[in-house]
Amino acid sequence: MPTFIHVADLKDIPPGTAKVVAVQNVEVALFNLEGSIYAIDNMCQHAGGPLGEGKITGDIVICPWHGYRYHIKTGQYVKNPEMSVACYPVKVEDGKISVAVAP
Ligand code: FES
Repeated sequence: MPTFIHVADLKDIPPGTAKVVAVQNVEVALFNLEGSIYAIDNMCQHAGGPLGEGKITGDIVICPWHGYRYHIKTGQYVKNPEMSVACYPVKVEDGKISVAVAP
């Protein structure tokens, strides 16, 4: 069973926004897409850009540094799945968001 750690409250991340949190030394970008929360690694595979500060368009986030695009729901790099970022399980209970970064 993965260990879920409380990282933020739902009210902190309104729909269409993101927030970067640290979970067990991993920087995780949380996204709220129409009320559902997703968590992917914050570090872009290209040169480490902060995906949590990227522009959100549909279910894609665009890295703010050079424009790499990732699927928010899976972490998959749009052009090349081999360069995807990690995607983490999320739980939302009573308005509290928890993420598991370790299996
Ligand atoms: S660091 Fe993300 S596109 Fe270059």
